Amino acid sequence: MCGIIGYTGFREARAVLLDGLKRLDYRGYDSAGIAVIGTTLRVYKDVGEIANIEKQIPALKGTTGIGHTRWATHGGVTKENAHPQLSCDKKIAIVHNGIIENYQKLKETLIKKGHKFVSQTDTEVIAHLIDEVYDGNIEEAVFAAVAKLKGSYAIVVVSENEPEKIIGVRKESPLVIGVGDNENFLASDIPAFLKYTNRVMFLDDGEFCVITKNAIRILNAQKKPVHKKEEVINWDVKDAEKSGFPHFMLKEIYDQPETIHQVLRGRLSEIEQTITFSEDVEKLLASKFSAIHIVACGTSYYASLVGKYFIEQLTDIPVEVALASEYRYYGSRNPSVLVIAVTQSGETADTIAVLKDAKNSGMRTLVITNVIGSTATRIADSYILTQSGPEIGVAATKTFTAQIITLLLLSLKSAVLQDTLGSAEMYTYIIHLKELPRYVRDVLQRTDEIKAMAEHLKDATSAFYIGRGVDYPIALEGALKLKEISYIHAEGFAAGELKHGPFALLTKDTPVIAVIAQEATYDKMIANIGEIKARGSPVIAVAEDKDTEIEKHADYVLRFPCESKSLSCVVIAVLLQLLAYHTANLRHCSIDKPRNLAKSVTVE
Ligand code: F6R
Repeated sequence: MCGIIGYTGFREARAVLLDGLKRLDYRGYDSAGIAVIGTTLRVYKDVGEIANIEKQIPALKGTTGIGHTRWATHGGVTKENAHPQLSCDKKIAIVHNGIIENYQKLKETLIKKGHKFVSQTDTEVIAHLIDEVYDGNIEEAVFAAVAKLKGSYAIVVVSENEPEKIIGVRKESPLVIGVGDNENFLASDIPAFLKYTNRVMFLDDGEFCVITKNAIRILNAQKKPVHKKEEVINWDVKDAEKSGFPHFMLKEIYDQPETIHQVLRGRLSEIEQTITFSEDVEKLLASKFSAIHIVACGTSYYASLVGKYFIEQLTDIPVEVALASEYRYYGSRNPSVLVIAVTQSGETADTIAVLKDAKNSGMRTLVITNVIGSTATRIADSYILTQSGPEIGVAATKTFTAQIITLLLLSLKSAVLQDTLGSAEMYTYIIHLKELPRYVRDVLQRTDEIKAMAEHLKDATSAFYIGRGVDYPIALEGALKLKEISYIHAEGFAAGELKHGPFALLTKDTPVIAVIAQEATYDKMIANIGEIKARGSPVIAVAEDKDTEIEKHADYVLRFPCESKSLSCVVIAVLLQLLAYHTANLRHCSIDKPRNLAKSVTVE
């Protein structure tokens, strides 16, 4: 939560910071601000999105500065609580992502020493702490101040007295250095500076960096120099732009045929009929474990539920799937269990906490993530990248389908290692995987049908999604997509569960979206649809092109093409993303930045 950026170099900092913040605003968009050092340090901040605040900021001279886009935690959404926060003399400015747990106590002590606070934020305490010990060396002052902090933070600091220098420090919140020529960057995430450089250095927990336009120094918490390898990111700047689409979400939905190619790239060999992961991942999968526990939050949790179906269908390994926020307190500590964390960002606080606990308990850990260098990749024994490129829309789309496909590849690999999958079956999976982008492309062309269905949904106050088997988590995800971007109350259910309670909520104004793609449960789904219609609720069935029966039962039918029962869930997920998108669009919602949400949830 919250996006931060720092820049020092030869360009006007104002433009670099504002551009970076616009690319980071999926991390929070309650308020935003920048500080630029020219002859003096000048700060501009306000509530609202960066695009609005930009208009109030005059042309500024200065090639060093910091910026922030906020998702409020401590203190309401006000101009005073927006970052940067300042020291009493307004010469030190800081931006912060995270939570300072002991801020109240520190604040009381600082007030006694005469510091004047103007905000309700935990962040302001850091500015005053630095001020308290500052004697001309900002680097030393930040070291001394940070030693007093408890909690999680990525902090970027500038001082008017030492222009052209930025200090960064991280603990449990992301901070990455962008390495340029005669300029350097610091940011919460790579898209913030990808336009200028794709060379990066990832800071580890407890590390500090001191950045000028020509030098980067990294130090550990004991002030010892750390040598960091520069890494080159192969994301294209176009991936972080809308490319003519009205919203990032729509662009990312349309990216999916290409995303699938990327997920399979280097992993799937049609000729040799093999699946390849890195050596350490393969070693981990080949090792003995009593069970797999998959932990995740939100959309990643639903992808994990799909993963459970795959692993249990293809191997003899028992799988449990848990919400990371629950597993933390009630999960296993059994070292014979393999913990797999699924997290797009690699930064979700609850998921990270599980990974740390699991490691401390001697459990083996694997992460499936989209972000190289993220905290999760640094903690886990091994990681698999979903290779989907940056996802900017707050609602996860392409990373969800990439997670599902990655989990299928992992299941297939495990099945081969366990000898539970014949070569003919493997061949069929490989063929279906190769054909998947074609089916997704086909769904993407069905805009008219999907828009027409969105017209039926747009005035609903409540909608249900149902499915059985692997279609059940897809129904859960379909409902999440609709509720988060259209603000229509939506719930997903296992179809057989409706009669155990939720039926009480059905009215003629409650559309029910029934995903009906599994042969084994087809008749049961038809029976469920009948029960729903008997209560007067309209049913929108999501059914295969070849299904000639469904029209007799449902009020409306949305069709999808797919030969493979196992992989139809990917195609249906894309269709339901589009249904949510067009519904939200008809309701004029803020699709890329839904209210109260942020993409990377770094608070527990
Ligand atoms: C919903 C969505 C969230 C995330 C969740 C976990 O569209 O994106 O539910 O899936 O916050 O985030 P990651 O996968 O980054 O751990």
